[in-house]
Amino acid sequence: MRNIRLSHVGGGPSFGAMHTIAFLGLGHMGLPMAGRLVAAGYEVTVWNRTRAKAVAVPGARVADTPAKAVAGVDVVLTMLADPAAVDAVVFGPDGVAGAIRPGTVLVEMSTIGPTAVAGLARGLPEGVGLVDAPVGGSTGAAGRGELTVFTGGADADVAAVTPVLERLGTVLRCGGPGAGAAAKLVRITAMVSGVTLLGELRAIGAALAVPAELTERLLANGPLAALVERSKGTDSHFAVELAAKDLGLAVEHADAPIARAALERIRSTLPRISGRDVGALANPPE
Ligand SMILES: NC(=O)c1ccc[n+]([C@@H]2O[C@H](COP(=O)([O-])OP(=O)(O)OC[C@H]3O[C@@H](n4cnc5c(N)ncnc54)[C@H](OP(=O)(O)O)[C@@H]3O)[C@@H](O)[C@H]2O)c1
Repeated sequence: MRNIRLSHVGGGPSFGAMHTIAFLGLGHMGLPMAGRLVAAGYEVTVWNRTRAKAVAVPGARVADTPAKAVAGVDVVLTMLADPAAVDAVVFGPDGVAGAIRPGTVLVEMSTIGPTAVAGLARGLPEGVGLVDAPVGGSTGAAGRGELTVFTGGADADVAAVTPVLERLGTVLRCGGPGAGAAAKLVRITAMVSGVTLLGELRAIGAALAVPAELTERLLANGPLAALVERSKGTDSHFAVELAAKDLGLAVEHADAPIARAALERIRSTLPRISGRDVGALANPPE
């Protein structure tokens, strides 16, 4: 039985049944997302490996460990770097799995792919719900509540956490367990491979002596126009390392030579653009 709490009375948007939230992982994305949930009126407890970032969420309680953060809450959101980080936070010492109570739903929002989501499902205690809910959109969209949230999981679990996720953006129901994680890999492979291709198109233009300004106009008005805009955006920070991680996850699942070539290109460029937004791939330094 889920822990049903009808805490919202009167007009305005509904909180649904889930009112107390643990938010684990306060990087570029987690920080604005947790802030939105506090602003929406949820009771939020935050935890981050580097504690200094956790105290940067005004109005949230700060926990010392993932286990302390999740004790007694209705829903746990994780927004961490990669599968290894999620594994450490959920199954490591003082991790989520040792303290999360039956009836709680764990919403895994990092980009970790369906294989890692299946590992979570196998390891979580009986009675804990799991929803995979990675997001499309970067830091600016996270702050504005304009992410796309790709959900996978059992209907009841997804329905229970949808009011929370709707504070973060538009919820796109993708299917059963792992379906959100899978959908995200399709979407991110399009973005990262496409932005990488932009870098190559500029090189092709230069090799053909097409004036740089004309190349820019051709690209801005062509089929990759949305990616040109994304690569120049100033309100996004999606580190190139994370982009490489995502393509690596995607190519595990399919014979995808173009995505693999993009991944190789990113890996060879990485030492020169480490830590920068993925837009740097569209204009890689020589
Ligand atoms: N940035 C974007 O535009 C964007 C958009 C969509 C999806 N995503 C996905 O969302 C996730 C988070 O992205 P982000 O940009 O917020 O990344 P980020 O700024 O690099 O933050 C990563 C978070 O993971 C934590 N972490 C890393 N390794 C850990 C470990 N071993 N144990 C515990 N915590 C660990 C970091 O803690 P510390 O603070 O201690 O380092 C930090 O809280 C990633 O999966 C990314 O692919 C990002």
